[in-house]
Amino acid sequence: QSKQLFPYNIVLIGFMGAGKSTVGAHLSKLLEMEWIDVDQKIEVHQGMKIHEMFDVYGEAYFRDIETQVVHEIQDRENTILSCGGGVVLRAENIEVLKKNGRVVLLQAEAETIYGRIKDDCSRPLLRNQMTVSAIAHRLEERKQRYYEAADYIIDTDDKDIPAVCQEIISEL
Ligand code: S3P
Repeated sequence: QSKQLFPYNIVLIGFMGAGKSTVGAHLSKLLEMEWIDVDQKIEVHQGMKIHEMFDVYGEAYFRDIETQVVHEIQDRENTILSCGGGVVLRAENIEVLKKNGRVVLLQAEAETIYGRIKDDCSRPLLRNQMTVSAIAHRLEERKQRYYEAADYIIDTDDKDIPAVCQEIISEL
């Protein structure tokens, strides 16, 4: 039986490497809430890895599936949702996620993100350009959307996972 401390879902957004999945998993244990990793759900849904989806069908197709999955989970309660970094690219996704949820933006500097994801080749968008400046460029492109979507903003640069979780709990 869960404690249900929050009467709404906690929606984690932010750039790749911001810690959405790791923080989501940790937070769900702390709060005894369910956890859904949207990227994982997309992979199960499609029976393929996200980078394969990008290769075979392209980004637009992936975005359609992402939007579909966001709609499928819209009635969930007491759930922590770790979203993919690009979920904010479609305004309708944010609208749906905000219906039952508070949106928490996990922020980090491009240098921090680079340090966290440089050895990970599973991210199709940065596969061929894993540099601080490529990350900074994309962050800049998306910054506005992240800020607009966020109910709370947490800087993660100098914090470990438990500290980020504590901050989310005290903010919400
Ligand atoms: C994407 C981020 C990825 C994944 C896909 C696209 C993006 O998720 O959804 O590769 O556009 O920023 P993570 O943020 O969990 O890496």
